[in-house]
Amino acid sequence: MRITLRASRSLFYLARSAKAERLAPGRQRCCYSSGHNFKDITIEGRPYKTDSWMNTPASILSSIPRRLHLQPDHPISLTRQLIESHFPGFTYHNDLFPIVSVAQNFDSLNFPPDHPGRSRTDTYYINRDTVLRTHTSAHQADTFRANENSGFLISADVYRRDAVDRSHYPVFHQMEGAKTWNRNDPTSHSTLAAQIWADVAALPTHSMQVSDPSPTIDPEHNPLQSAHHTAEEVEAMAAHLKRSLENVVISIFTAARAASASPSDQPPQDREPLQMRWVTAYFPFTSPSWELEVLWQDTWLEVLGCGIISHSILSAADQPSRLGWAFGVGLERIAMLLFSIPDIRLFWSKDPRFLSQFSAAGEMKRFVPFSKHPACFKDVSFWVKGTSSAAGGLGGSVSGEGGFHENDVMEIARDVAGDLVEDVRLVDEFSHPKTGRRSLCYRVNYRSLERTLTNVESNELHERFRQQLVERLGVELR
Ligand code: DAH
Repeated sequence: MRITLRASRSLFYLARSAKAERLAPGRQRCCYSSGHNFKDITIEGRPYKTDSWMNTPASILSSIPRRLHLQPDHPISLTRQLIESHFPGFTYHNDLFPIVSVAQNFDSLNFPPDHPGRSRTDTYYINRDTVLRTHTSAHQADTFRANENSGFLISADVYRRDAVDRSHYPVFHQMEGAKTWNRNDPTSHSTLAAQIWADVAALPTHSMQVSDPSPTIDPEHNPLQSAHHTAEEVEAMAAHLKRSLENVVISIFTAARAASASPSDQPPQDREPLQMRWVTAYFPFTSPSWELEVLWQDTWLEVLGCGIISHSILSAADQPSRLGWAFGVGLERIAMLLFSIPDIRLFWSKDPRFLSQFSAAGEMKRFVPFSKHPACFKDVSFWVKGTSSAAGGLGGSVSGEGGFHENDVMEIARDVAGDLVEDVRLVDEFSHPKTGRRSLCYRVNYRSLERTLTNVESNELHERFRQQLVERLGVELR
């Protein structure tokens, strides 16, 4: 028997590598009009036509009004404010609508036509041209075009079809940041690079050692956009970017430590000096690009992605004389570290035992779990119909037509059990030696964050899950 563990998937849109482990719904007015094959829907007063690409369940649409990043005293909102406090003078955009065009989400950022992120197995579509944004970068081009401020932050809810476990949820929050300089602006410095270095000197300093072994520019793996930038300019912008982000991460982790009442309360990993490192990365919209990783409980975690903005994006946004940096950070991951929140579903809880623990006023405090209810594991084994692709989604066809994809299993589990499902993982996989048919076994953990589930309840949930797998994916139960 071969046990296949789920591949570790990157938090960000980069060539998926095994560098670092991942730490991993309100009511929505949604009107359907009849008379068409595909329904017209209205989401927060905005009309949309659906077509055969529509794959967004009502449960996902119902999370749109929650806007956790704007709820006073919510940990996602507190995390946003903590990061914003490091970027004085920037413009903050916190209310951008989550439904965007494919052009905004992918094309404007140079995603190639066959990028796996565009697949219907990975992304929620409303119609062929319209998606629920999968990242806050979707608003970069428009914000550059508006050119209100040389620095901006965008915080928002983002949506991705993904695994079900304690660090993944189909709706999460990101913050995007960007800072640009204009070549045509008058400066008292001899060169633009000298101007940027002066801006670096004006940033707060810190005394931490941060490992950064790779050269800023690597012609093969992390190239300079040589038609548009000089190496001196990129060295200066990289220094500005890295110092700005190191300051943010240091303050977050310092706050996380301070959150514990006394040193003896601190888990051992918190007493070690903080360790961070820069690693080379790849994004379709920056070059060179990096990720910042933090050592957390003996594992290097990717905390954010960043880089030097592709000139093509600025120039398409009518800003050909600008150059600068951008970054993207996942707010749940930071908030989970900051407040020791063990399960991403908790962010969506309306239970006062969760919500009352956080406050913008006063000291930042660790989350104290109010109870741990028993886990209830149940397996389901089935024969897959047709072709299939793995958890990483790399094999998924862009249209997602015809094949089996693990994200569909995940979505059915969420549809059936909502937040009563904690984790779904592949525990066994084999191909029949004679027929070549593929069999998969998934283990589902049903557990409520708020109460103990009864046996009858979990049996019913699991039976519905099994039936839906058959009805929606055409699998054959074993
Ligand atoms: N949008 C990326 C993602 O979600 C994260 C990101 C990486 C944003 C690098 C950036 C950046 O602005 O420069 O996968």
